Amino acid sequence: MSKSTTFPDDFLWGAATSAHQIEGALEADGRGRSVWEDFAARPGAIEGGVDAAIACRSYERWSEDVALLRRLGLSAYRFSVAWSRVMPEGTGRVESRALDHYERVVDSLLDAGIAPVLTLNHWDMPSALMAHEGWVGRESVAAFAEYASAVGERLGDRVPWWITQNEPWIIQLLGYQLGLHAPGIADLGKAVRAGHHVLLGHGAAYDVLRELTDGRIGAAPNLLPCVPASEDPADVAAAEGSDGYVNRWFLEPLLGSGYPADMREHWERATGAPLDFIRDGDEAAIGGRSDFLAVNYYTHRVMAAAEPGPGTPFPWKVIGSRGEVSRTDEGTEIAPGAFRDLLLRLSADYPGTPLMITENGAIYGDGPGPDGRVHDVRRIRYLRAHVAAMAEAIEAGAPVVGYMHWSLLDNFEWALGYRPRFGLVYVDYRTGERTPKDSAWHYAQIARANALVP
Ligand code: NOJ
Repeated sequence: MSKSTTFPDDFLWGAATSAHQIEGALEADGRGRSVWEDFAARPGAIEGGVDAAIACRSYERWSEDVALLRRLGLSAYRFSVAWSRVMPEGTGRVESRALDHYERVVDSLLDAGIAPVLTLNHWDMPSALMAHEGWVGRESVAAFAEYASAVGERLGDRVPWWITQNEPWIIQLLGYQLGLHAPGIADLGKAVRAGHHVLLGHGAAYDVLRELTDGRIGAAPNLLPCVPASEDPADVAAAEGSDGYVNRWFLEPLLGSGYPADMREHWERATGAPLDFIRDGDEAAIGGRSDFLAVNYYTHRVMAAAEPGPGTPFPWKVIGSRGEVSRTDEGTEIAPGAFRDLLLRLSADYPGTPLMITENGAIYGDGPGPDGRVHDVRRIRYLRAHVAAMAEAIEAGAPVVGYMHWSLLDNFEWALGYRPRFGLVYVDYRTGERTPKDSAWHYAQIARANALVP
C-alpha cells in the first residue's frame, strides 16, 4: 500500500449531524422555539411544506445513533447542541433537562471510545433573539456567549473538541442576504452585519469556554475554492474577488490579520454604506482564538467577471464548469482535487493550525433494493475520492487531524426538506428505522484500517 493512503496514528474518523436536522421532539424537556420553526411556518419556505418536528427522532433514539457509530468503528462524532433547548428564552434561564440529555449523549460516546466534537450553533437560534433581528443585532453576541457558558459549565470537563459557529457564510448568505434559510431576511447590509456578529460570537464564546475546558475550540467555515472560468485577467480577478467574499472574509479575521481590505471595499460599494458596525477592537476579539480550523468542504465554484446589478451585488458570477464533469444527484460538481489544493493552501497560509474536516459528503437518492440493502456505489466513489485527496494533502504536509463525513444519517436538509439524502445510514422517515448503506460499511473498513483500503 502506498504511503499516501495511510493516516496518522491518532487520526479521527467520524460522522457528523446537527440537532435540528435529526432530533425532532421540538417540545420535549422545555425546549424553546427556534428560528427554524418560525421559518418552516412560512408558506413555501420549505420544499414539500415539511418541517423538523419528527426528523430522525434522535432526541429519543440517540443511543441507537451511538450504537451505529460503534458498529461502524468510528472514533469521533460531530453533533450539535440545540441552542433553544438550553436557552429557551434566548437569555437568562438555562434548561437543565436539555443539558442532562447532552451529558448522557457525551458520556455514552466517551464510554464507547468515540470523541465528541460538539457544535454550539448549528443554526437553531432561539426565536426570542429575533427581538433584535437575530445576528443583525449586536446583542446576539452576548446571548451566544451566555449559551456557550451554560454548555461549557456542564460539559467543559469532558468534551475534547468544540465548534462555536457552523458555516458563518451560509448563515449570512442564506439566512440574511437571500432569505432562503431562517430567519428569512433578504438585505445585503443586514447580511454583512449579521456575519460580523457571528464571528464576534465565535470570539466571545471562545473566551468563556477557554475558562471552562481544556478542549480545543474552533469555528467551522464552509470553504469553497473559487476557480477562474478562463485565463482572462477579468475572470482571474472575479475568482479572487469571490474568494474574498466566500472564504477570506471569514478565514482572515479568524486566523489572519483581520478583514481583507479588498473585500471591505466590495462590501462598502455594494451596500453603499461604511462598515461602521465593525468597531475598534472587534477584529482583535475574533482573531487568535482558533485552536484548530474546522473545514466543511463540498465543492468548488467556477467564476467569471460580471457587471454588478440586481441579484449580482459584486462584479463576479458563478458559471460552473464547462464540459463533462461528475455531479451529485443535486447537480453539485464533484471536485476532490480542489479539496486537496484547499488543504494545502490552508496549511501554507495559516501554518501550525490543525485542520479537521468537519463536513464532506454528497446527495445521492439511493434507497433499499429488493435485498433490503442500499447499494450507494456513487457515495463510495465520492468518499474515496475525497479521502484520497485528503491523504495527498497530508502527505504533502497538511496537518489534518480528522475527517467527519456528512452525514451519519439521512436527515432534514433545511429548505430542501427530506428529499436530499446525505446519510451513510438510510432513514425510513415513517418508522425512524436506520439501515447502514454500503457506503457506511465501506467507510467502516477505511476507519478500521486507518487507510484507504482497496
Ligand atoms: C452544510 C450544513 O452545515 C449542514 O447542516 C448541511 O446539511 C450540509 N452542509 C449539506 O448541505
